[in-house]
Amino acid sequence: MDKLLTVDGLTFQPFITNEEIQKQVKRVAGEIREDLKGRVPLFVCVLNGAFMFAADLIREAAINDAHINFVRYSSYEGTASTGKVKELMGLNEDIEGKDVVIIEDIVDTGLTASMMVADLRKRNPRSIRFATLLHKPASSKTGFKPDYVAFEIEPKFIIGYGLDLDGKVRNLKDIYVIKED
Ligand code: IMP
Repeated sequence: MDKLLTVDGLTFQPFITNEEIQKQVKRVAGEIREDLKGRVPLFVCVLNGAFMFAADLIREAAINDAHINFVRYSSYEGTASTGKVKELMGLNEDIEGKDVVIIEDIVDTGLTASMMVADLRKRNPRSIRFATLLHKPASSKTGFKPDYVAFEIEPKFIIGYGLDLDGKVRNLKDIYVIKED
């Protein structure tokens, strides 16, 4: 994990190892298990970026009765947010009275997260909680505060472990950060 990576002419350096990720996944999974004791959560994975984090987090949470579903949003082009959030695939199940746990890869401006939570609230769930792998609080345009955060980071562009650069490099086991200099 000491190698630089070049993707589309941009250079990235190692940032968070898979070992460190798994440690925080374990912690967050424990917090969710504790908070939802005696409840049957509905995990909602936000595609595409959160698929890897969600797979690890849900397995680690080990709540056998939990249901799992998927939504898909898009707001990024290249390395910057467009500021416009598009819903590409909504949640096709009744969530009334349910304890929903949204699983996202990263909260940047917070636009996607706050729009998603506002949308789902209208459908009368019992509760909504928001778990994110990464949070860039300094980029916030909404003041949105996730309930569970694996890593709080500086507002720099990140790839790997599900996060992409124009659809590429989601496969990387570790997380890389853009090299600025
Ligand atoms: P927000 O709506 O600005 O909070 O952005 C959320 C979405 O932008 C995330 O779900 C990601 O898909 C994308 N995004 C934000 N920051 C990064 C990054 O550093 N790398 C890759 N994708 C990012």
